Amino acid sequence: MKILVVGGGGREHAIAAALARNRKTVIFSVMAKNNPGIAKLAQKILLCKETDVPRIVAFARENGIEYAFIGPESPLEAGIVDALESVNIPCVGPTKAAARIETDKGFCRRLMEEHQIEGCPKYRLCQNSAEAITFIQEHEGDLVIKPTGLTGGKGVKIMGEQVDRAGAIAYAATINGSIILEERLIGEEFTLQAFVDGTHLIPMPLVQDHKRAFDGDTGPNTGGMGSYTMPDHMLPFVMKTEYSRAFGIMQATIDALARAGHPYKGILYGQFMNTAHGPKVIEFNARFGDPEAMNVLSLLTSDLAEIMVKIISGTLTSAHVTFEKKATVCKYLVPEGYPDAPHAGDPIHVEGTHRAITYYANVEEQNGSLITLTSRTLAFVGMGDTLEAAERIAEHAAGSVRGSVRYRKDIGTEKLLSQRIAHMKELR
Ligand code: AMP
Ligand code: GLY
Repeated sequence: MKILVVGGGGREHAIAAALARNRKTVIFSVMAKNNPGIAKLAQKILLCKETDVPRIVAFARENGIEYAFIGPESPLEAGIVDALESVNIPCVGPTKAAARIETDKGFCRRLMEEHQIEGCPKYRLCQNSAEAITFIQEHEGDLVIKPTGLTGGKGVKIMGEQVDRAGAIAYAATINGSIILEERLIGEEFTLQAFVDGTHLIPMPLVQDHKRAFDGDTGPNTGGMGSYTMPDHMLPFVMKTEYSRAFGIMQATIDALARAGHPYKGILYGQFMNTAHGPKVIEFNARFGDPEAMNVLSLLTSDLAEIMVKIISGTLTSAHVTFEKKATVCKYLVPEGYPDAPHAGDPIHVEGTHRAITYYANVEEQNGSLITLTSRTLAFVGMGDTLEAAERIAEHAAGSVRGSVRYRKDIGTEKLLSQRIAHMKELR
């Protein structure tokens, strides 16, 4: 089975590693930078921009690719799935039209509203910054300001947390194009990812990501500094009824997309804020989360290649998808200065990973040394019977790295988890 994996981050290393556990697979890769982890798994690599659709299609055809697995959002937005499927290469990943659930936040909110899907925060879609500024000036209460297009998770500004009203106005003034203003949701965030075959959604363990750069959830937003899962695949601040509502929202969204003529195949990522009034949708992504993919794919005990085939044929059932009942903790190492002024080009040394699983991301190998680039460098996943055991493994590996990289020590600790539980109790 010749499979093309598109993307070169930690998420795609985890996807390639999970696919490669099936011995019948031969992995091909398209990535912008030579990820050393993916390079070890791939039979052949094309180094090119992940949005260069014609080159990717040509590479896939030349190499007789049978299936493609799309990691990041930018090739989805560029129409990679439409292009590959037009030459009979089926994909795990939605078409450009269905991917608008992520790539166009206005489309997402309107779809939820039109189909009366619960969990949609109050929002206002503004055509330009002038309209947004007027609304911010006249609105009482905090707002969240978002460009409607893709920003790599770094385009959101929250009034009352990161900026005051004047700062919100100043930020809106810098945005070109349409802007979405939303009520500020208060609660605890969680991620629910599902495999989707067009109609059926098969859920994966709940994950909590950590967006802020520094310990204690401080500093600027990042692509995600690390994440954890619990042995029961739930999170202690999410009740069963809240989980069911979140899953129902995702199912209703897939049904709505199908009714709108955009059947969805791939991974659906639901980012929720669990509030005093239940789960609300912060956003949907049309792909695995990064880092969240590393948690769940490390736990996957069934065959990702088979899941891929079932997604494509529209015949996926829960019997195809099983996960180990363990906790995981994922910690990302990032270059000093990340995300605002990352320092690249420094050598790093990994001294003792022990039982941690290593996933490479934005890092290059030169003469046997690992050299940092400007984005997240590499991640370690610890797995254990308890969160504490998993955290110890990830922490030990992360702490063994020498060089100008840093990571969050608090991810997956009991202390942080108790704070989350206490916060949710207080809100209820
Ligand atoms: P996004 O790029 O949409 O994932 O947003 C980045 C981060 O901004 C999220 O992880 C949340 O922490 C925060 N955020 C986004 N939308 C809201 C909202 N409506 N209320 C509160 N926080 C939000
Ligand atoms: N970890 C957040 C994302 O992948 O969008």
